[in-house]
Order: sequence, then structure tokens, then C-alpha cells
Amino acid sequence: MSVPVDEGQLISMLLKITNAKRTMELGVFTGYSLLTTALALPDDGKATIDKSREAYEVGLPFIRKAGVEHKIDFIESDAMAVLNNLLNNEKQQGAFDFAFVDADKQNYINYHEALLKLVKIGGVIAYDNTLWSGRVVPSSDQHQEEMEDTATDALRSLNSFLASDSRVDLSLVSIADGLTLCRRLY
Ligand SMILES: C[S@@+](CC[C@H](N)C(=O)[O-])C[C@H]1O[C@@H](n2cnc3c(N)ncnc32)[C@H](O)[C@@H]1O
Repeated sequence: MSVPVDEGQLISMLLKITNAKRTMELGVFTGYSLLTTALALPDDGKATIDKSREAYEVGLPFIRKAGVEHKIDFIESDAMAVLNNLLNNEKQQGAFDFAFVDADKQNYINYHEALLKLVKIGGVIAYDNTLWSGRVVPSSDQHQEEMEDTATDALRSLNSFLASDSRVDLSLVSIADGLTLCRRLY
């Protein structure tokens, strides 16, 4: 479930180019993308969220070995609950430079609304898996089971929604399983 190396490098490069300091990641798993991004950040804090700490514990020794654990504030929680808490705190509005979203696909559109308030103007929200192995493109001989795949439906809706969202600049990068970059405009 981890991002491949080239995508990790791209995200890491984006963080460096934009001088990102405060970032968040929704969906950590063993922490591969988290480790890649933590290596790209200065020593300031980084919030990160996953509903389960179990897989993160597997990757933690590598994060420690890389000397970046102090940049990580792991929150074991449902991502939307954490975002709602942050939204209730006025100081957190526009406080993040970058967000990487790689959790439950059905909620991406809800994460987008929250993150547009939490990420600063000019900041970047990156959505993973927006090509979803090509399944986001409907085909005439589509199988019924594919039609019933809620993640595919959610990602199709997200892609259509983002394409006409005037609040962001958008680039869908065809790397790995698709990475959509949104830059907050206002
Ligand atoms: C694709 S994996 C993340 C992989 C990681 N970003 C990487 O590339 O190394 C998705 C993770 O999202 C977490 N997740 C799924 N739904 C979630 C939710 N509602 N809130 C928080 N985390 C969630 C899962 O527990 C899983 O670890």
C-alpha cells in the first residue's frame, strides 16, 4: 500500500521546492511516504494521522534509524475527526504548508473541504491514487462489479469535482497510481 520510490521522491522534492515546514499526512500505514517526507523537512513539527498505529510500529525502527522521529507527531485516530478538531481551532486555519492524502478514498472529497481551510493560500494538497489503476476512466465494456466499487466511484467524483474547483490550481500527475496536486488559490 506504500507509494513507490519515484512518487516518494517527487513529494519530497515538492516539499523542498516550496520550503514546506508544517505538513500533514492522512493514511500512514508503515510510514514509507512519511519517512520520505520527514527527511525533506526542517526540524519543525509534522502532524500525521492514521486510524491504526499497528502498521506504523513496523516502520518506526526505520524512522528512528533515519533520525527523523522528532519531526513526526503520530495521531492514532480517524482522519476526519482530527481535521474537525483542527477546524475548531482558529489558530490552525491556514497553518499547514502541505497535506498528503492517502487514506480512505470515499472521504477524499470531505478531506478536501477541510484541508482547503487548514492549508495556507499557496499551499499544496496532494491526493494519491487518483488514477486508481486506470479504473477512473469508464469503458464501454465495464464490468458490473467495477460499477459497484465505491472507491472507484468516489475517485471519479473527486476528479470531476476538482477539475472544476476554482479554489485550486490542479495538476494530475500520471506517476504511480496517479497523484493530484492542488494549490490553494484563495
Ligand atoms: C494506502 S495506506 C497509506 C500508505 C502510506 N501513505 C505510504 O505510502 O507509505 C492507507 C492507510 O490509511 C489508513 N486509513 C484508512 N481510513 C482511514 C481513516 N478514516 N482515518 C485515518 N486513517 C485511515 C489505513 O489504516 C492505512 O494505513
